[in-house]
Amino acid sequence: MSARGFRGQVTLDGPSGTGKSSVARAAATRLGAAYLDTGAMYRAATVAVLDAGVDPEDAEAVARVVAGARIEVGTAADTERVEVDGTDVAVRIRGAEVTRNVSAVSAVPAVRRQLVDQQRALVAAADAVVVEGRDIGTVVLPDATVKVYLTAAPEARAQRRAAQLGLTTPDEIAGLAADLRRRDEYDSSRADSPLRPAADAVVVDSTDLDREGVVDRIVELALSAVGAGERA
Ligand code: DC
Repeated sequence: MSARGFRGQVTLDGPSGTGKSSVARAAATRLGAAYLDTGAMYRAATVAVLDAGVDPEDAEAVARVVAGARIEVGTAADTERVEVDGTDVAVRIRGAEVTRNVSAVSAVPAVRRQLVDQQRALVAAADAVVVEGRDIGTVVLPDATVKVYLTAAPEARAQRRAAQLGLTTPDEIAGLAADLRRRDEYDSSRADSPLRPAADAVVVDSTDLDREGVVDRIVELALSAVGAGERA
């Protein structure tokens, strides 16, 4: 199905390990829309903090470093561009060190304000865009065309993450599930922009849906929101 009639913003929020990124990219491609991975921006900010040698728990120092960093992300659905001060960090932002420290960096209000401003500017430049994150429907784009909150049972999320990382033992999978719960807890309980569904978000549970099923559902929601279904 070609779905190029879509104009507007689709927000895709939810915890980690739901397959959000691959679903968001695929939905953007199907809709002929741009794609913005806001998690990549918080991860890039974390690279700047680690390289500056400051403690990620020191909110003041973190805010100062991130204010001075040039964080750039691309918005094409088929390529990933993430740079900090002109250096390509697309691979590094997925590493364990960044993953361990990104929750602390993303909890700093000044960092959030800076990156949210940048996110809104990137969204304003696109006719159609799928934006992925934690607070997109609640804070960044409260007037978005369609809001989706993607969730899945922690065990299903741990299984998927394990498959990506090539881990197979029950202990390893239990460790991943514990790690996901810890990050969710941190992201959901922080004071600034906690992870939660917007009141007008459609909650999609992907525990028993494959990726294509989730993408179909999002594309359908986007098209029906703009009345483009008949044209698709
Ligand atoms: O989606 P991700 O795993 O790449 O996100 C990395 C971290 O950034 C995650 O701990 C939550 C945080 N984040 C956020 O606070 N707000 C967003 N809009 C996106 C991500």
